[in-house]
Amino acid sequence: MEVVIMAGPTEVGAFAGGRIADVVAGNPEAVLGVATGSSPLETYRALAARRDAGLDFSRVTAFALDEYVGIPRSHPESYHAVVGREVVEPLGLNPSRVHVPDGLASDLDAACADYEAKILAAGGVDVQLLGIGANGHIGFNEPTSSLSSRTRVKTLAPKTRDDNARFFDKAEDVPVHCLTQGLGTILDARSVVLVAQGASKARAVAAMIEGPVSSMWPGSVLQLHRRATIVIDEAAASEL
Ligand code: GLP
Repeated sequence: MEVVIMAGPTEVGAFAGGRIADVVAGNPEAVLGVATGSSPLETYRALAARRDAGLDFSRVTAFALDEYVGIPRSHPESYHAVVGREVVEPLGLNPSRVHVPDGLASDLDAACADYEAKILAAGGVDVQLLGIGANGHIGFNEPTSSLSSRTRVKTLAPKTRDDNARFFDKAEDVPVHCLTQGLGTILDARSVVLVAQGASKARAVAAMIEGPVSSMWPGSVLQLHRRATIVIDEAAASEL
């Protein structure tokens, strides 16, 4: 694991964005794994600046990590909508090359298997961007997730629903279920860049980097990845 400690969120985004931009500069048809949440926003800002400077993202393929079950794609907090707003538009991705798990499928298990097949057909993910939840989740792989899990239906932990309530009008509006790439799926990416900022992530960051590999802290599975870079600010590093 490569651990990079930067002064603050802007620097975290600039460093992580630089890593991802380098992959796209080397291969205009790269496959990116994209994350939602507030953590990667500065990274997307840095990537948008590289686009403004001439880097072409139009032939990139992207796979989102996860999606809520049961909210329409048009809902502003569906991950389909978030990825469109935060990633596809500012970077100029081709929407036909952008994939998000289908949380409205009548057969959710089949939708998960189909998602895994699409990642395989694209040749796998070159660089996976991740945030981390305060309880250590990556994607929506909550504590106790199997370390070899694949894309599947999960129930959100109460802590995650509380954390994400800020994005919805009422706490009860936060969906209970989601589809998420598994920890095994994430480990298959050829490289991983995880970003975390702020003291609220410090405990999860310490468990991920210094704790035992454990399904109780799903981020710790990245200790098994050969090319995982953890980019954090000083506040997120405060328990290391
Ligand atoms: C969300 C997402 C994760 C994200 C995490 C942290 O619920 N499913 O992909 O990394 O929780 O969110 P934030 O970056 O807003 O703190």
